[in-house]
Amino acid sequence: MSRVIKWGILGLGKIAHKFVNDLQLVADCELEAVASSSASRAADFADQYGADRFYSNYEDLYTDPKVEIIYIASLNQDHFAHALAAMQNKKAVLCEKPLAINHNQVVELIRCAKTHNTFLMEGLWTRFNPTFEQLEQWIVQGEIGTMRYLNATFSFNGLEYGVDSRLFNPYKGGGSLLDIGIYPLFLAYQLLGMPNSLQASAIKFATGVDVQTALILTYDKVQALLYSSFSHHEDMRATICGEAGEIYLDSRWHETGKINLVKEGKGFSEEFEFLGKGYSYEILEVNQCLREGKLESSKWSLQNSLDLINLMDQVREQIGMKFPME
Ligand SMILES: NC(=O)c1ccc[n+]([C@@H]2O[C@H](COP(=O)([O-])OP(=O)(O)OC[C@H]3O[C@@H](n4cnc5c(N)ncnc54)[C@H](OP(=O)(O)O)[C@@H]3O)[C@@H](O)[C@H]2O)c1
Repeated sequence: MSRVIKWGILGLGKIAHKFVNDLQLVADCELEAVASSSASRAADFADQYGADRFYSNYEDLYTDPKVEIIYIASLNQDHFAHALAAMQNKKAVLCEKPLAINHNQVVELIRCAKTHNTFLMEGLWTRFNPTFEQLEQWIVQGEIGTMRYLNATFSFNGLEYGVDSRLFNPYKGGGSLLDIGIYPLFLAYQLLGMPNSLQASAIKFATGVDVQTALILTYDKVQALLYSSFSHHEDMRATICGEAGEIYLDSRWHETGKINLVKEGKGFSEEFEFLGKGYSYEILEVNQCLREGKLESSKWSLQNSLDLINLMDQVREQIGMKFPME
């Protein structure tokens, strides 16, 4: 048996429920305590998932001596303050994406992690799932030859949630780019690195945040066409083409268990059965890092998070989107 990692969760909304279901499937870790701004939400959550303690404020979670790592599941605009406070109390942090809303905040978080010698990772869960590992392996093995083209999208009809949804609220770090456009950008960045150039075009919602954004990232030999939207449904496959073959990630590509390789006219698929929904793989990575005393993951490093937010800052500059709190 490995050392048991004791988790706390801050912010008990939709994603916290999905995450904790997977946490319970991972061996040698426990849900120790949870915190919400609502006492009843904290009590109900603790009861539902068997947390030892619950708090109706975040401070008590930051200072709970038995909690080793805090999963920050609050809204985008609060990730910075919550991650900062957790690390100042010497807690390791797994923070939901985006790690923060801009470059300056991410730099400050990285500085804080180094000052307090604490582990910090952005919860880009797709990075850790077996389908993504297979994709990387095929590319490294040269299965599709020199890469030439990548296409990835992320869209759903968020208009159904109404104008008051956090999705459209600039004070809550809203807009499709930070919420879901981060996934296609992550895919291009992880496979290709920083582009030589980036062109962005957006359609704005009445509140000023982007309701849909299209991007072209240009590399020496590759173009990546990326897109995110809150204004319509789409089946969300991803395509990666090289001179010698193609790879298709099934719908929805960021969480799929199925990946397809086509070369010389022949198709081949790999299908993975996930442990839970797939958050389990980032949890396994964090547990492993903590047991080994690492302060960051080598699979999704702090530099990776910094590069990603730099790309999103560039996009926001081009489309003229500033958050009121910046
Ligand atoms: N990785 C993924 O697959 C995935 C999927 C969806 C979302 N996310 C990310 O997860 C985070 C949370 O998203 P969610 O869908 O779970 O959001 P949510 O359910 O709307 O809210 C999450 C928590 O944020 C706090 N909150 C809600 N409204 C607030 C307000 N007006 N002011 C201050 N705090 C407020 C509440 O914390 P308390 O319980 O403490 O009151 C709430 O429980 C976001 O950063 C999002 O980008 C990730």
